[in-house]
Parts: sequence; C-alpha cells; structure tokens
Amino acid sequence: MKNIKILATFGTRPEAIKMAPLVQELKSRPHFDCKVAVTAQHRQMLDQVLGLFDINPDYDLDIMTKGQSLFDVTSKALLGLKEVMEKSRPDVVLVHGDTTTTFSGALAAFYEGAKVGHIEAGLRTFNKWLPYPEEMNRRLTGQLTDFHFAPTKRAKDNLLKEGADSETILVTGNTVIDALNTTVKFPFHFSTEILNDINFEEQKVVLVTAHRRENLGEPLCEICKGLLEIVLKNPDVLLIYPVHMNPAVKEPVHKILGGNERILLLPPLDTDEMHNLMARCYMVMTDSGGLQEEAPSLGKPVLVLRHETERPEAVDAGTVKVIGTKRDTVFEEAEKLLKDKYEYDKMANAINPYGDGLASKRIAEGLEYFLGFSKNRPDEF
Ligand code: UD1
Ligand code: UDP
Repeated sequence: MKNIKILATFGTRPEAIKMAPLVQELKSRPHFDCKVAVTAQHRQMLDQVLGLFDINPDYDLDIMTKGQSLFDVTSKALLGLKEVMEKSRPDVVLVHGDTTTTFSGALAAFYEGAKVGHIEAGLRTFNKWLPYPEEMNRRLTGQLTDFHFAPTKRAKDNLLKEGADSETILVTGNTVIDALNTTVKFPFHFSTEILNDINFEEQKVVLVTAHRRENLGEPLCEICKGLLEIVLKNPDVLLIYPVHMNPAVKEPVHKILGGNERILLLPPLDTDEMHNLMARCYMVMTDSGGLQEEAPSLGKPVLVLRHETERPEAVDAGTVKVIGTKRDTVFEEAEKLLKDKYEYDKMANAINPYGDGLASKRIAEGLEYFLGFSKNRPDEF
C-alpha cells in the first residue's frame, strides 16, 4: 500500500511543544510520509521549541509581524498554506489546538480537499468570547475535522454533544505529557544561570505567566498589582515571570513589576528550562492553557488568572482553581496557599487527568486505523 502523505501544521510555541512528540512518532512509522509546515505566527518563541526537539520544518511561511492582528495572521496563514498544500498535496493535514494557525490550517486543508486531523480536539468553555479567539478557533476547526483526537473523555463528550460521529473520535491523552516526560530531569542545569542559584527549599518560588488577548489592558494591570502585593507582603516569596514577547504584555508587566529584587522578569525560557522550573517551584499562577495541564502532573497548585477554563478536569480534581483577574482576589487566593499549609496540601497533588505519556503513539495508531492500515482501533486513554 502507498504511503500516506501527512502535513503537520503549526505556528506558535504551545502548538510546537505539543506537536513535536507526534511528529517524531509519525516520522518513525513506515506508513507515513510526514512533512512539517510552520506558519511562524510566532518566530523566536517557535524557533526555541524547534531547536529543542530538533525539528527542521519542510515549509516555513515566516508570517509574524510585531503587534499583528487576527486579520493579519488569518489571511497570511491561509494564503501561505494554500501554496504549501498545492506543492505538497497532503492526504491528511494535522492541526493542533485553538490558535489562528490551527483554524487557518484546517480551512486551507478543506479548501484543498485534504482530510483534517485535529489534535487536542473538543475542549470547550461554551462561551464564544472566552478564551478569545481560541474558543471559536476550536469550534470552527471541529466542524472541518475528519479525525478528532480528543485528549480526555470530557472533550469527547463535548464533540458528541455537537453531533460529531463517535467513530471519528479517539480519546488519546494530551501530547503535552509526552513532551514533559522527556524534559523534566533531576538534577538539571539551567542555561539561564540565575536559576541555578535559587534555593527552592528556602524560598517559595511563585511561577507566573500571563498573555491572553482578553487579559490585555486593564485585567493584566490588575493581575500585576495583585502579584506585586504578594511579593511585598511575603518576604520568603520569589516571583519568577518569563514574559511573553508581545509588546502589549511586556510593557505593562515591566512597568508594574520591574525593579524589585524578589521579582525576576525573564525573557521566554526554553521549554526544558520552563518545565524544570515548574517541577521545582512552590506554585503556579497563569492564564496559559498548557500550564494548566503540566503543573497538575508535577503536583503543583495552579491559580488560573481567567474567568473560565476549557480544562475543567484538574479543577474537579482540586489541583487547579480559577480565580479571575482582580487585584484583591489575585492577592488573597495566593495568600491562602502561601500561609495555610492545609490549603496548600489540599491542592498540591500530582494528578494526570490529561495524559499518560502515550498520546502520540495512540494518535499514530489512530491514524493507521482511520486510514485503513490497521483493523485494530487503539485502546483509549
Ligand atoms: C497566540 C495564540 C494563542 C496562544 C499563544 C501562545 C492566536 C490568536 N493566539 O497568542 O492562542 O495561547 O499564541 O503563546 O492564535 N511575538 C514576538 N515573538 C514571538 C512571538 C510573539 O515578538 O516569537 C510578539 C509579536 O509582536 C506578535 C505578538 O507577540 O505580533 C502576538 O503574537 P500572536 O501570535 O498574534 O498572539 P499571542 O498572544 O502570542
Ligand atoms: N513555556 C515555555 N517558556 C516560557 C513560558 C511557557 O516553554 O517562557 C511553555 C509552557 O511550559 C507550556 C507552553 O509554553 O508548555 C505554554 O505556551 P503559552 O503559554 O505560550 O500558550 P498557551 O498554553 O496559553 O496556549
């Protein structure tokens, strides 16, 4: 039987982290001729991940511009991927998650008559505006998808409620746990030297990230003011914030949090550094999606700086709490975990509702099954 031509398409840091283990898995299997097309919706932050996982894209659209709008990203990605698909003629296009590259990749594949496989399918808040524009990117991509690789049973149920055929859905676990299993090490030497000097026993390291579009402006300023209060009122806290490169994030964060010796504002960290820092920190405060999956598996409590989450599994398990963006709440919720050992221990449990490290293998076997190379439907996560 002929090889199946797969085009793995992605463009931002989180997509790259979560697609890397799958690309490696597909390239190791004889049925697949797997090529990689990056839109480079992110540039430096994407290249950091490509380097770490040793992925050399076959196509690179290099679309990123400073302060780009959703219109810029959508139109450039769509037109660029049209050309890539005309050249490479893939049978299946794989897209990941909920970015604008994801939706553009699925739409381009549909226009070119290729089948769409959606990795990390089925996550929903059921609120069109939160997260923005990711909830709609995910829903629209779902409508264009032929093979849904849902990370959890709950994500599968969301797809079934929307009318997807259960035969086309496979519950796989999330590939982020596959990636995490390769990066976290004890001992680990940080290439960001300052991180090697931290005594994680003596200082409570609060690891922070925030970048969501709906938090830009006033909510991000409120978050930063709450974070500053945490540091000012707790002499044992060291706050570490690797700051996203978006100028609309960098500027207010440096303005409000810069100049305090117990606040480390760092450029984006390499992913192996980020994962190892997370594995050693006291707690995580974030509006990121990926960190909500990684930190629970490392036994770290997570306070989510958002009003809704499409990842409710760890909230139900008690390791993640959604706290919003108000300055007072940010301070008070962190204070509970810093001062009350009982509250901390209740949340600091290692749980793995999102994966077991075998997601890429299941997705590859799922593709073999869906495409007729195997009669065995893989066991689900
Ligand atoms: C994008 C995704 C979001 C995802 C996030 C992960 C969309 C609409 N948003 O949001 O779902 O959670 O990535 O981080 O798809 N920049 C750089 N260098 C980089 C990356 C970004 O300078 O390597 C700056 C540029 O000025 C760019 C800006 O950040 O214009 C925003 O990037 P963009 O991809 O549009 O939005 P994100 O907020 O990163
Ligand atoms: N991450 C990283 N370096 C950093 C910050 C985050 O490698 O400085 C990793 C993080 O561990 C997770 C992913 O990037 O795997 C999350 O990406 P991001 O927060 O950009 O996007 P989101 O998860 O919100 O879509």
